[in-house]
Amino acid sequence: MTYDEIRTAFLNYFESKGHKIVPSASLIPNDPSLLFTVAGMVPWKGILQGTEPAFASRVADVQKCIRAGGKHNDLEDVGFDGSHHTFFEMLGNWSFGDYFKEEAIEMSWEVLTKVIGLDPNRIVVTTHYSDDEAAAIWKKVAGKEAILLGDKDNWWSAGDTGPCGPCTEMHYDMGPEFAGGLPGSDNEGRRFIEIWNDVFMQYDRDANGNLTPLPKQNVDTGAGLERWASILQNKSDNYDTDLFVNLKRAVSDVTGVAETSENVSSFKVITDHLRSVGFAIADGVIPSNSDRGYVIRRILRRAMRHGQILGHRGALLSKLYPALITEMGAAYPELAREEKRVVEIIENEENSFADMLQNGMKLLESELPKLNNNVLPGDVAFKLFDTYGFPLDLTQMILRDKNIDVDVAGFEKSMAEQKERSRANTKGTRIFWESQTELAGTDDAAKYAPTEMQSTVLSILRNGEFVQTANAGEEVEVALDKTTFYGTQGGQTGDSGELKQGDKTVMTISEAGRVDNIVIHKGVLVSDLSVGDVVVPVINANVRQQTARAHTATHLLQAALRSVLNEDVAQRGSKVSPDSVRFDFSFGRAMTNEEKQAVEDLVNKWIAADMPVLHEEMSMDDAVARGAMALFGEKYGETVKVITAGDVSCELCGGTHINHTGEILKARINKEKSISSGIRRITMSVGTLAE
Ligand code: ALA
Repeated sequence: MTYDEIRTAFLNYFESKGHKIVPSASLIPNDPSLLFTVAGMVPWKGILQGTEPAFASRVADVQKCIRAGGKHNDLEDVGFDGSHHTFFEMLGNWSFGDYFKEEAIEMSWEVLTKVIGLDPNRIVVTTHYSDDEAAAIWKKVAGKEAILLGDKDNWWSAGDTGPCGPCTEMHYDMGPEFAGGLPGSDNEGRRFIEIWNDVFMQYDRDANGNLTPLPKQNVDTGAGLERWASILQNKSDNYDTDLFVNLKRAVSDVTGVAETSENVSSFKVITDHLRSVGFAIADGVIPSNSDRGYVIRRILRRAMRHGQILGHRGALLSKLYPALITEMGAAYPELAREEKRVVEIIENEENSFADMLQNGMKLLESELPKLNNNVLPGDVAFKLFDTYGFPLDLTQMILRDKNIDVDVAGFEKSMAEQKERSRANTKGTRIFWESQTELAGTDDAAKYAPTEMQSTVLSILRNGEFVQTANAGEEVEVALDKTTFYGTQGGQTGDSGELKQGDKTVMTISEAGRVDNIVIHKGVLVSDLSVGDVVVPVINANVRQQTARAHTATHLLQAALRSVLNEDVAQRGSKVSPDSVRFDFSFGRAMTNEEKQAVEDLVNKWIAADMPVLHEEMSMDDAVARGAMALFGEKYGETVKVITAGDVSCELCGGTHINHTGEILKARINKEKSISSGIRRITMSVGTLAE
């Protein structure tokens, strides 16, 4: 069976069993604890936890997944065997409070033995030692004696917190010609491979590791499509299945190099990385220097290095992307829909790294004869990182073949020193902007209700110098004549987002700052940008919402503190970030646990009441008459903005806010401590983070 045939057979079966078939969710999860969607259940976390309503009680899909960072990470293993991938497809079926262990196991068994026709005698099953029920069901349904294993093998969770439970795994016996003992034995090898995991999601784990039973008993299953394809196509290596054979042929076509047993690992790395980079960017990830953007940048650079090993120079994945569409575009229409944008972003990224890769390799090779004990000094690894854009793991990957280690501690020390220098520098960039006395201020009136606008680039600051043009890949600060971005001020973190021209991203903005009345867009250029260019500023609406709900929650927190402690509590400072709040206030002693709980409960009560939040502009006199709270020592203009939440809070405030307190979802106080005499600090999470 081909990939397309397996997907269809799987979904048809579950549809016939009353499951709602849904398309794959995005690789970018709506979950701050994860970089990527690592399993089919990630989009359903809220349903499993009972915080979101289920749209159907039985669901099945084929989910795009990336495991390349965090708890689930297979990046280092790709290329060395036939079964690791950073990107893979997970077949899955779910019961949200509907069927449980018995029906789940029966259906898995029927799919394996009837739908895809595996030999029942070659299937071995494992269960959690505490789960007598699952073991008994296997006996009844399939006549199988389950192997009982512990948490490492038979307990599953997506992250350190969240829904989890015991699982039962099905393994396929590839045959005695493959080395390796039974699952759970000391010598697990390639003979028994896991082909399906049925998780019985019964618990929610909190940050302290405590398990609470979930409101409903759920089933979450996951099966690796690539593994199924290898078994059904009688291949011992996933990279020899139809989809990968075709992608590898495209690599040959683009590089002009045939696959051999010597270079096959480069073919595997490139085809794997093509999938993760292509799909991630199609879903909206942009290569950058942080978080998931950096994971994708690293993967892309590793792929280029493998292109170089094959003797290829320059752009690679951007040329291979059309082959990815040919192979997978029918199952994932977003690949073709986003083609223009994805190819452009990959090309930009490849062009900016191509020369750095050649030059960095020269530096690295010139260092090799000087090594002591086969260890590359940390400062050299850092120079490769800082000047040539070699992520540390790329340098390690290059040296791994030569049995050379990198002095990671030395690398980190150089990195820390560099951070220190650039911290000194950020103070410096303010001076540069302040020196621009002719520069008009930014009209940022639209920040409260962003609409599409055409803005003109007024200034570009690069490395402490104002330039007419800056190039793709460079870190710059940009001032526009007008913007929708909120620039950091009043304790509220500025917006992130993009500058666009049509569908094309010109610059990714990590944070908008502010110097006097100029909003400064800080970030990395995706393509060249010049003063006078017209761009469309587009904020990241998700982050904006997270910051806005944190800001309104800060007002509720202040009101709750005044209600629970006393009316003299006054704000002394605050930092409002996406879904998190730091609030400093005057109060003479530590709060008791009861007081903290009472404050948290009161804030949550106000959230649950879903009170309207009014945003009004009025004269200072009217605001005072209203009883609006103002910050001690703050200067306000003639007209002021007043934010009123129900009948509990009324404050002068220039920040961005939500329209109903219910949008905050939930608030949780994390810590309360003293920061100086008479001043306490509370940190609080809100939104999905608190949930
Ligand atoms: N969520 C389970 C897994 O990824 C099914 O193995």
